[in-house]
Amino acid sequence: MLKVIDHPLIKHKLTVMRKKETGTKDFRQNLDEIGGLMVYEITRDLPLKPIEIETPICQYTGYELAKKVVIVPILRAGLGMVNGIQDLIPTAKIAHVGMYRDEETLEPHTYFEKYPKNLEEAITIVVDPMLATGGSSVAAIDMVKKQGATNVKLVCLVGAPEGVKAVEKAHPDVDVYLASLDDHLNEHGYIVPGLGDAGDRIFGTK
Ligand code: URA
Repeated sequence: MLKVIDHPLIKHKLTVMRKKETGTKDFRQNLDEIGGLMVYEITRDLPLKPIEIETPICQYTGYELAKKVVIVPILRAGLGMVNGIQDLIPTAKIAHVGMYRDEETLEPHTYFEKYPKNLEEAITIVVDPMLATGGSSVAAIDMVKKQGATNVKLVCLVGAPEGVKAVEKAHPDVDVYLASLDDHLNEHGYIVPGLGDAGDRIFGTK
């Protein structure tokens, strides 16, 4: 299911990121902050288990997260969404999926994969700022499922309808979270209005 997280702070910060004059430092900082704000919605349904603790006053039955959380950035732009999420879930493990997009066919190619143990017991959060054709996200979700992941969420900053449709078709069990559903993809595979090449803007490359 698609969930567009509608929040004034997210809209404000995303607009700063979309501006072409925004530099690397501010782009990264706003991405971190939006990642943190999105965590609140992304984690709303995380299961809890009761634990017995002692407060300075008395015995108390509190809660802790019942499942391990694994964040899976799709390299390289996905790395830009890790810090903001990890700040709020500091026990999260980080897997890595290395993929690049063939600029002509727009097809994803995998060059690196690394996962923690027992993905089947975890909440697996695949992250990539831009959900364009959906090719990389569908491939990354295929890969984590092959490793045993059963509870998978996809978190992106900006999505195109084409990408959302592709993920929903290939992985109807995966919830997709966006800060914005944009208008369309252009003939070069860029999201419109979008924010340009997220990887280049995060890392200051061209
Ligand atoms: N990847 C990006 O970085 N930007 C887009 O607009 C589409 C894919």
